[in-house]
Amino acid sequence: MKPLKEIPLTDIFKYEDAFNLFHKEPIAFANDGTRSNGLTIGWGGIGVLWNKHVCTIYIHEVRFSRTIFDKAKYYSVCLLPEEYKEAIKYYGTASGRNEDKIANGGLKVVEDLAPYAEESRLVLICKKIGQSKFDPNQVDDGVKDWYAKSGVHTIYQGEIVKVLGR
Ligand SMILES: Cc1cc2nc3c(=O)[nH]c(=O)nc-3n(C[C@H](O)[C@H](O)[C@H](O)COP(=O)(O)O)c2cc1C
Repeated sequence: MKPLKEIPLTDIFKYEDAFNLFHKEPIAFANDGTRSNGLTIGWGGIGVLWNKHVCTIYIHEVRFSRTIFDKAKYYSVCLLPEEYKEAIKYYGTASGRNEDKIANGGLKVVEDLAPYAEESRLVLICKKIGQSKFDPNQVDDGVKDWYAKSGVHTIYQGEIVKVLGR
């Protein structure tokens, strides 16, 4: 496998289109200064905000990751090849609250501005520039059910400061 190398931001969509990037279930990683953790994410978007190129992700309040991402200065969004579906499943079901997912997840996670998986085919390193919680009273009735039980998602806006590809 060719090593990851820095690629231009404009090459992102040569790897995956904007919708598929999140349909393919990337793993997002962050380090809060003490420890790293990651979780599979299916919600996210790439766009322009505050005149910067951003990758926005959404992490529910009940996730252990939320405590890490709240404090982290950077996060990564890692798109893995199909053969890593077991790792994607693991990161989407196990919790960092109970175990060390970096040690047990079967991926080689390296520390950069944010941790990222070496096996990825595309890595977006994002500098967190905003975070806020959804207001469940300001969402359409059709999506209110998402917030009928405990907690809401926090929205993290990250400026894409580095992109790695092969
Ligand atoms: C395909 C898939 C997509 C997911 N997307 C999200 C997401 O966008 N936001 C979120 O908060 N949780 C999402 N989850 C759930 C978390 O990945 C899961 O609860 C994980 O175990 C949380 O780990 P943690 O407790 O270490 O934070 C998704 C899970 C899967 C399997």
